[in-house]
Amino acid sequence: MSIMRQSSIMPVGIDDLAIYIPKLYLDYRDFAEARGIDPQKLEYGIGIRKMTIVDTNQDSACMAANACLKLMQRNHLEPNDIGRLYVATESGLDESKAMNSFVVGMLEQIYGEDSFEHAGGIECKFACVSGSYALYDNANWIRAEENNNKAAIVVVSDIAKYDVGSSGEYTQGAGAVAMLIKEVPRLLSFDPKVTSTTIKNEYDFYRPFGKETPLVNGTYSNLLYLIQVRKAFDSYKEKAIRTGLIRINDGESITDHIDLFTVHLPYRKMGEKALAYLLRHEWRTLPRWDSVIKEIGFAEPVPKDPRGTIESILADTEFMKADERFRKSFMQTSFYNEVYEKKMSSSLEASSIIGNLYTASMYMGFRSLLEYEDKKNHNIEGKRIGFGSYGSGSSAMVFSGVIQPAYKEIVKGMNLEEEIGSRTKLSMDQYQGLRENERNLNDSYVRAKDEFVLVRIGGSTADKAGVREYCYCN
Ligand code: CAA
Repeated sequence: MSIMRQSSIMPVGIDDLAIYIPKLYLDYRDFAEARGIDPQKLEYGIGIRKMTIVDTNQDSACMAANACLKLMQRNHLEPNDIGRLYVATESGLDESKAMNSFVVGMLEQIYGEDSFEHAGGIECKFACVSGSYALYDNANWIRAEENNNKAAIVVVSDIAKYDVGSSGEYTQGAGAVAMLIKEVPRLLSFDPKVTSTTIKNEYDFYRPFGKETPLVNGTYSNLLYLIQVRKAFDSYKEKAIRTGLIRINDGESITDHIDLFTVHLPYRKMGEKALAYLLRHEWRTLPRWDSVIKEIGFAEPVPKDPRGTIESILADTEFMKADERFRKSFMQTSFYNEVYEKKMSSSLEASSIIGNLYTASMYMGFRSLLEYEDKKNHNIEGKRIGFGSYGSGSSAMVFSGVIQPAYKEIVKGMNLEEEIGSRTKLSMDQYQGLRENERNLNDSYVRAKDEFVLVRIGGSTADKAGVREYCYCN
């Protein structure tokens, strides 16, 4: 897809990314058997085959540090090359001390004491969307030339953990993605002046202080995700047309001008549903809709109160039922499937074998898109990627970027399974034991090698209370 107007704004974006995924996982068949669920529901209804679980000696800070170290090592970066280190997470470890300070502490074990002293950064929180805000803020720090020729690193790191026996339990996962943000990036250049957000005070998914697992209204959170991302997308569309980034001809949708999509992925199926929701919204006023309806064989249902609130729509049970039926039929059409295969399927592969990564899930989707498009021998240079980020509570951010010519050198040799490394399958008993904290911190299932782990929380003296100690294991 062509870029309508070359911007005079300095290109800034993602130069490279690195991932860290813990080595323990649950197989969906074992999980289904233990919980009395049809495994087909997990494999196809949710889209999960392997769910990542953290070991006893891992937390969101050491996962972030591991991803960050990989990123620095493979790009031969020194701390002096980095001006900002941001960590976005909803698995915070301290009400006051920011997670990036733990990460700096770990990295300084490798690069030397005070080697990051010149840098800055914060921990960001807004459920799963905060990494996108961190990227945006750091891109603008570089655009404003406040960066003194240094790059920024944004790390998204999370542990998705739900109550045992809840419907969220099969959408767990863990991992981190570290991204190098630079001018003239090799991978993706952000489209300027089109990033769009929505924000609203909501209680779809939240975790009050001291609570280890979230309180979730699953159905409400799904619908809210769809509505908020769609609203942010409407605003993106208005900006993309106004700035001349994208020109839409008669009968076209803006989705025709976005080559690939990556969206927040609490579970694989949610990505498929988000695409369906967006396409329905974009296409229903276009001439092609008649052909879509013809293929479906029945009309799109309308809620009793079409301008009603999300609550009134959810309470309209007749509409909700009819709409689910319509959505499922729409997702069977050749129209949907063509877009899905071409523009989204590659971004969903990683989610099925890793699980939910909260802040990191959309960026793992981006990583997945790069690798699986390459495996399909698709040249995506110059293609526009649309990002749909969602954080419960709630806020959405929609933005886009264009794949740069040098992306090929980064994508070459990408292999997710190899990069994760050999993994250990947990039995349900072992998983249960981890959930009940039966094993202590130093009694891990996997012997750590070439990575940071947590070795102690709180020393023997009062002044060490709550202090977390990490070390790098060779
Ligand atoms: N074979 C194949 N498919 C089957 C099946 C079977 N035997 N049985 C059921 N299914 C299908 C269902 O038809 C359904 O498919 P559709 O989505 O196409 O309708 C799918 O499996 C899911 O089944 P349910 O509708 O029964 O849903 P559930 O009770 O399993 O709950 C959930 C799903 C609400 C997502 C729940 O896992 C949950 O609460 N998760 C946590 C909250 C969440 O992830 N919300 C997402 C939006 S908020 C967000 O994104 C932030 C975040 O990261 C948390």
